[in-house]
Amino acid sequence: MNHIETIQKRRSVRTYTGEPLREEHSAQIRQYIDQLQAPFGVKARIELIHTKSDEEPIKLGTYGWVKGACDYLVLIYEDAPLAETAAAYMFEEAVLFCTHLGLGTCWLGGSFSRGDFKKQVSLGTNEKLRIVSPVGYPGGGQRFLEKYIVQADKKHSSRKPFGELFFEKDFTHPLTEDSAGKYSQPLEMVRLAPSANNKQEWRVLYEEKVLHFYKKPYLSFDSIDIGIALCHFELSCRELGIAGRYEVVKDFPEKENLDYVISWIQEE
Ligand SMILES: Cc1cc2nc3c(=O)[nH]c(=O)nc-3n(C[C@H](O)[C@H](O)[C@H](O)COP(=O)(O)O)c2cc1C
Repeated sequence: MNHIETIQKRRSVRTYTGEPLREEHSAQIRQYIDQLQAPFGVKARIELIHTKSDEEPIKLGTYGWVKGACDYLVLIYEDAPLAETAAAYMFEEAVLFCTHLGLGTCWLGGSFSRGDFKKQVSLGTNEKLRIVSPVGYPGGGQRFLEKYIVQADKKHSSRKPFGELFFEKDFTHPLTEDSAGKYSQPLEMVRLAPSANNKQEWRVLYEEKVLHFYKKPYLSFDSIDIGIALCHFELSCRELGIAGRYEVVKDFPEKENLDYVISWIQEE
């Protein structure tokens, strides 16, 4: 899979054909999610739930936001520091894999019945179910509700300009694609990341060989959104042969209204 191409292709799909996942797709997804590991030592897993099998159909409520979906990915993780961020990183890897297979997905953090989904998985004492996503064959077109959501997201595919999200030296100097150099494409992939309500509350401060990642506290999804951004950034760096690692450093620049999360340390 080419991650950069897949990131560019992905968008939220809320209308599906109603066809259950074909066996080959189910098998590929299962194989992929079973080998995934969340970063930062966090324990997380993804389950694939089929609502239509030989047995009685299962009802999974999405309050009318999703139509025609028969299968869902469910993210489960153990509560710990950075757990939501790491679990979101891993879930986005699964979302990108499904996109690569030509399937539609849509991160759902709010518009689903947690109770319905919890009945279908067994949760350990310290485990949380925060996110689900339909996965299936895009139905084409947009229903009235979907058009409304997309408008409310302020043109769903629109993203803030590069220089509003990324900075150099301090937060008063917007970063240009030119001065970002080899990081311009990985940062562009951060810009394309999905986020709750399309808020895009991730910020990055570029200091030559170190990039500091921050999040603006937003509802309860900021830790999840930044995990998706970290996933896009690292997968793109790897694909472009840029070596580095994430590390929580002590000497990060502080900024009002922004929470420091982690830094990317370039390795020669
Ligand atoms: C953490 C998270 C939670 C989300 N929750 C919902 C949701 O509850 N309902 C929904 O319709 N879309 C949800 N979305 C999808 C976003 O609205 C969508 O990603 C954003 O508008 C950008 O559009 P795109 O995914 O097509 O690029 C969520 C996205 C994320 C990352």
